[in-house]
Amino acid sequence: MAKKIVVIPGDGIGEEITNAAVLVLKKISDKFQLDLTFESHAAGGTAYDLYGTPLPEKTILAAKAADAVLFGAVGGAVWDNVDPALRPEKAILGLRKSLGLYANLRPIKVMDCLVEYSPLKKEIVSGIDIMIVRELIGGIYFGDKCESEMKDGFERAWDLENYSVPEVERIVKLAMETAQKRNNKVTSVDKANVLATSRLWRRTATKVAASYPDVKLQDMYVDNCAMQLAIHPTEFDVIVTGNLFGDILSDEAAVLGGSIGLMPSASIGECTSLYEPIHGSAPDIAGRGIANPIGTILSAAMLLRHSFAAEAAALAIEKAVEKALLDGYRTMDLYRDGFKKANTEEMTQAIFDRI
Ligand code: NAD
Ligand code: IPM
Ligand code: MN
Repeated sequence: MAKKIVVIPGDGIGEEITNAAVLVLKKISDKFQLDLTFESHAAGGTAYDLYGTPLPEKTILAAKAADAVLFGAVGGAVWDNVDPALRPEKAILGLRKSLGLYANLRPIKVMDCLVEYSPLKKEIVSGIDIMIVRELIGGIYFGDKCESEMKDGFERAWDLENYSVPEVERIVKLAMETAQKRNNKVTSVDKANVLATSRLWRRTATKVAASYPDVKLQDMYVDNCAMQLAIHPTEFDVIVTGNLFGDILSDEAAVLGGSIGLMPSASIGECTSLYEPIHGSAPDIAGRGIANPIGTILSAAMLLRHSFAAEAAALAIEKAVEKALLDGYRTMDLYRDGFKKANTEEMTQAIFDRI
């Protein structure tokens, strides 16, 4: 039966990188007879310009009805001054909330052939294999907020961090189950020495972990975690943390592998799953055809594995990416003398040809 993938390119490099991933998925669909179909929908600043909203109802309905969603990226400085409720970023936040995508899985690996591209020493990053499990529809991102109020003669703004026990339980359970398929270790990251939400998080994580005696739970403060990622990154297996800490730590961890342009993610929850690279719309390079498409192409591999249980097809993409890199193709974020300089199209073609 045909499987429908809703593609949401978004803004900036979004169109370039989702086009690349769709090209690869079409070849995979033919090769593995997956009968994939694609339907494109608007979101982000481009949707705001066209329809006056960053997340048209039609896009939400299409995403809910789809078998999977492939998302590019949204945002850009041109929309920095629109009404905050209509910012492009509201598109991805709204989609996550509408689809109940409470967990964002961000795998961080360092490919052997790229170990020299890490900003850290080879002996520190060699062998990194981390899965960041980020809570995605709670915390300070979705708490009460005030853009501006006058108090004691000053303007102020506030955002409220807020987590409930069931929200923490479901994400920690998922982290535990993820660790059981990996190396049985979960690091729960919080700021329990200061924040009430983090103390609730830590208490809840400890209770949940009691049902998983085969998994070792370690609590860690977020500031220390940021440091440990830079000095002992291979010590981590699964990291579970809240929305804001997960956002920040995953950008830090992503670059250990050489470039944020390489890193994929899967957002899963109550309805259709959504797949997107972890980077943004890269306005500084948008429209030039030079973005690294690998994060989005590897997100497409995660889509095949998680949404369609198409393990062989997912592996075929991952192997083709590795082969293209081994054969020397490099987008500008990873380019060095002696390698084959590739723009988005050429890198995509190199991967396509190796499937
Ligand atoms: P960014 O991730 O877009 O860019 C950070 C740096 O990484 C830039 O120098 C960029 O050129 C580079 N980069 C990112 N992806 C790349 C790729 N595929 N290939 C080569 N280089 C790449 O982060 P930013 O500049 O902080 O944010 C830009 C906009 O994107 C903002 O509006 C932000 O809100 C938005 N954003 C969106 C998402 C999303 O849609 N999920 C994620 C992060 C940021
Ligand atoms: C990400 C992005 C988003 C986030 C923004 C664009 C809302 O940074 O997907 O990592 O903070 O979750
Ligand atoms: Mn981010």
